[in-house]
Amino acid sequence: MKYSTCVCFSWSLLTVAVIPVSLGEMYTSLLNVKQAISVERKLIDYLKTYIDHESERLEDVKRFYAKVSDLHTELYKGPATAMANPLVAFTLIKRLHSEWLNVVHSNEAQENTQALRSSYEKEEADLPKLEDLQGAAQGLMRLQDVYVLQVASLVRGLFQRVTEGQPIDIYRPAVSVPLSGDDCFLVGKVAYEQQDYYHSVQWLEESVHLFRGAGGEWIPENAGTLEDALDHLAFSHFKTGNISYALSISQELLHHDPMNGRVLQNVEKYERLLVRSPPLSITDHGLKRPTSNNLRTRDTYETLCQTQGSQQMHFKNPRLFCDFFTNGNPGLLLLPVRREVLSLQPYVVLYHNFITDTEAEDIKTTAHAGLRRSVVAAGEKQATAEYRISKSAWLKDSAHSTVGKLDQKISMLTGLNVKHPYGEYLQVVNYGIGGHYEPHFDHATSPSSPVFKLKTGNRVATFMIYLSSVEAGGSTAFIYANFSIPVMKKAAIFWWNLHRNGQGNEDTLHAGCPVLIGDKWVANKWIHEHGQEFLHRCSLNPEE
Ligand SMILES: *[C@@H]1O[C@H](CO)[C@@H](O)[C@H](O)[C@H]1NC(C)=O
Ligand SMILES: *[C@@H]1O[C@H](CO)[C@@H](O)[C@H](O)[C@H]1NC(C)=O
Repeated sequence: MKYSTCVCFSWSLLTVAVIPVSLGEMYTSLLNVKQAISVERKLIDYLKTYIDHESERLEDVKRFYAKVSDLHTELYKGPATAMANPLVAFTLIKRLHSEWLNVVHSNEAQENTQALRSSYEKEEADLPKLEDLQGAAQGLMRLQDVYVLQVASLVRGLFQRVTEGQPIDIYRPAVSVPLSGDDCFLVGKVAYEQQDYYHSVQWLEESVHLFRGAGGEWIPENAGTLEDALDHLAFSHFKTGNISYALSISQELLHHDPMNGRVLQNVEKYERLLVRSPPLSITDHGLKRPTSNNLRTRDTYETLCQTQGSQQMHFKNPRLFCDFFTNGNPGLLLLPVRREVLSLQPYVVLYHNFITDTEAEDIKTTAHAGLRRSVVAAGEKQATAEYRISKSAWLKDSAHSTVGKLDQKISMLTGLNVKHPYGEYLQVVNYGIGGHYEPHFDHATSPSSPVFKLKTGNRVATFMIYLSSVEAGGSTAFIYANFSIPVMKKAAIFWWNLHRNGQGNEDTLHAGCPVLIGDKWVANKWIHEHGQEFLHRCSLNPEE
């Protein structure tokens, strides 16, 4: 007994080590989503075992059925003749006394179901939670908004935007996975439950459309039905002020469920409302996106995300240039780095091929076990927030030789002291479904910020390395400076967060655009003010 407890314990420890997610935050890191594939692989194997056992069981039932039916067609045609044989009489009595009983009361079906359920329960810790479903649905709606994607196209597995009345591909995926009525119902329901009727109307309309097309057939794996979708859609229309559609959808619902008292009441209410104030004129309609706290920068942010890497052009500003850069450092003499000055205010530089594929893989792999939901500063504390969807890990230079090597290279290129605590540990970030980081500053903007915990001043500069490429989305957008930098595998970006007088540079407001397709990984090195006294001179000029 003791022994088996022990085995169980170590087994559960092992699972935790392999898949660090079990707290319901799978959607915040694509690595975790990928790991979920192996969980479903196991479930598929369990289901196959179940089907095999159930098929064997049914084969037995069929064999018994065939045996008894044969006897009846062959032997008992004339009851008199057969009953004359005592063996025939005996077997009939035996069958009726015990064989039928054994077949009818067999526990095998339950045992098979029970075995399937307990196999499933073994995987339960690694299954996505409700929070993951909601987070993934919100990720889809975020992509819909930021990239102005048409819901009707998304439902068909396409990423399209309507331009001049025509749907245009934003990105053509290698595999397009169409959504079902039930898939759309769940996205719509997540919006509905957050009282976000702008999105719920759009997704539930697609859901209703698909459920109608499927002919209302009941499918065991579905969470919703046509009626559920109609019910939620009618209320969403009502909440957005579209009373005439709320009424017609409710009437359709009544057709399926004529005795539903609640719907009957709603129909009456909608009819009364329509009599009192007839439908709004055509010009007045149209759903409005819910407002956000950072509306001021939202439009610029989204425009910068949509126009993959809109940059100032070199020919427009002759002070922007490209060169091979060694920073006068002997370590870089033989292998100068291709430098591209992207912006002077704020000062932003791109270093091409900063990291090798092998180094990037080393960093990602070393970070796997340490990935945790990314936090943002909330006063003096750190908290998770919807405006930052990713997981991150902190790597000391002792974690892997590559970490130390990168520190050294960053130091050579920037001429800055990046040793802890003058530089923070390397932060490795993996984005999730529609993962993004809304406009923010890297430097502390309040004296109580956790950035000051290191006691080495504010974050004077940021060095960000792209560890992967993505197929679409995920650019780094500088909001006030009005340019964005697409994800470029192996490249790194450097910028000063502070003016030389120590004041934060407002122009560094930047964001990580939502990842449309791909697995985005970056590594951040934040360099602090202290330790740079002789390397980065101070100045009282607020312009510098
Ligand atoms: C009501 O909803 C329908 C279906 O989405 C739409 O075609 C119509 O324009 C909406 N009317 C108003 C007034 O919003
Ligand atoms: C930002 O840049 C785009 C072109 O890349 C330009 O059309 C737009 O006017 C600029 N916005 C501002 C606020 O400067």
